[in-house]
Amino acid sequence: AEPAALPRDLEGVRVVVSAGGTREPLDPVRFLGNRSSGKQGYALARVAAQRGAEVRLVTAHSAELPEPAGVDVLHVSTALELEQAVRAAASDADVVVMAAAVADFRPAELATHKIKKTDDGGAPTVELVRNPDILAGLVEDRKDGQVIVGFAAETGDEGGDVLHHARAKLKRKGCDLLVVNAVGEGTAFEVEDNAGWLLAADGTERPIPLGSKSQLAAEVWNAALALLKA
Ligand code: CTP
Ligand code: CA
Repeated sequence: AEPAALPRDLEGVRVVVSAGGTREPLDPVRFLGNRSSGKQGYALARVAAQRGAEVRLVTAHSAELPEPAGVDVLHVSTALELEQAVRAAASDADVVVMAAAVADFRPAELATHKIKKTDDGGAPTVELVRNPDILAGLVEDRKDGQVIVGFAAETGDEGGDVLHHARAKLKRKGCDLLVVNAVGEGTAFEVEDNAGWLLAADGTERPIPLGSKSQLAAEVWNAALALLKA
């Protein structure tokens, strides 16, 4: 059966979605990367476009994914490139969703030649520096009424459970909504399905039932639209 047509409730809304995972070069042939597939960000972009939004997708290392119809797609590689592209696009956006996995660190120096082994059996030490926190920067420069959405993949640890860490991250980041993926069997990375919570800055917490990345995307847009209207 044909899926039911989606409501055109994002008509006239300008959104920016970041997706994929950044790569931080170490030398001409190597990088520090992560396991993000880009699928969640692409689902967010596709669903927003289907609901009538004007969508810009800034994505890192997701070239194998089909580009969603009606979406303006920009491919980037590093966290610094992603930052520049997202910041530029966000300047006139109503909603910004940071679904990209941004490397927290990058090699302090980019070797101009391939790093070679030495005869003494030793190994190099790679110095890292912090990348900018793009989401925090967006929040700092937020324009009136703009809705900013972050993502977090969390595990519980001795410091607290998933929700404890997620609540702290929402406060720390200052965004309006935080989508929390509980990392575990069959969720978050390299799989089709997601599960977690949608936390709002006003303290509202909604569980997101196990479902497809499109279903999660729909939940995110519903919540963002409610905030835009508020
Ligand atoms: N993010 C970002 N810029 C960074 C790191 C993360 O914009 N340099 C965004 C991600 O796109 C995501 C949110 O911040 O929307 C949370 O990412 P996460 O890695 O969970 O947060 P961190 O503050 O980096 O915390 P942690 O130390 O747990 O990695
Ligand atoms: Ca991080």
